[in-house]
Amino acid sequence: MMEEPLFSVAVPATTANFGPGYDSVGMALSLYMTVDVRESVEWNVHYDGEEYADLPTDDTNLIIRTIQDVAGRYGKEIQPHALHITSDIPLGKGLGSSATAIAAGIEIANELLGLSLTPQEKVQIGSENEGHADNVVAALLGGVTVAYFVADELEVVQLPQPAIGVVILVPPNVLKTTESRGLLPRELPHSVASAGNAASNVMLTAIALGDWKLAGKMMEKDVFHEQYRKPLLNDFDHIRTACHEMGAYGMTISGAGPSIFVAVKEGTQEEIAKRLETEFPHYKTIAIAPSPIGSTIKKKPASQ
Ligand code: HSE
Repeated sequence: MMEEPLFSVAVPATTANFGPGYDSVGMALSLYMTVDVRESVEWNVHYDGEEYADLPTDDTNLIIRTIQDVAGRYGKEIQPHALHITSDIPLGKGLGSSATAIAAGIEIANELLGLSLTPQEKVQIGSENEGHADNVVAALLGGVTVAYFVADELEVVQLPQPAIGVVILVPPNVLKTTESRGLLPRELPHSVASAGNAASNVMLTAIALGDWKLAGKMMEKDVFHEQYRKPLLNDFDHIRTACHEMGAYGMTISGAGPSIFVAVKEGTQEEIAKRLETEFPHYKTIAIAPSPIGSTIKKKPASQ
């Protein structure tokens, strides 16, 4: 039998953008990755299951690279450890799997090196590693987060826990974030950017006030990325119409895609997920909730 881990880290999946909150807004979801950390003579990573089978298991793995990045920032040497990972988070589907790995790496380094990092330090390191702040901030802090991350200056606000249900539609194909970002124009006219900014402002204020009907409407008024990415998503416009007919608050691309995020009335997510899967069988649906908590550490109980 495998020995008890020294500690375990659980990190939630995230959905980013909420449409016009591009690269700024994130929300943690009740789907988790758990990393058990044990002593070892060399770094190695073991993933349970097929989904993550193709990821590197040596020190080129993103979790280990992040651990080493954190150690380097604080001028510390870190001993190798073995990481055993179980995850419910679909990989490469727009649910923040790389941000989850970065968040896990930060928590593991913090724990192994006794750094006592503050939440602000963790989100700063996470955003610098990820290159944008939306997914990784939500993965570390939980709930709905709004970030300003420009030229390494980071400000973060956490909104009250949203009372909604969530449906995620996951297609079979993977879409790399770099590829999906490559579809976006380098520049936008001022009038277009100000329309996107207005949609995001109203959406976030509505979320803060708990008015999800309005928030859902504004979520669908993105001008920053949706139109450039949606040609890669099967049936996107039909799904939007079906979501409205089913009483959803709103739908948008989850992160860089190719999954779709649907915000629904709390308690209706199972029913709407079933109906969407029947109507759009190309997608697998997941009915979940926002996660109020971000990354957490569970330690081995001290021996008696
Ligand atoms: N904000 C990012 C994007 C999320 O839309 O490209 C994916 O990492």
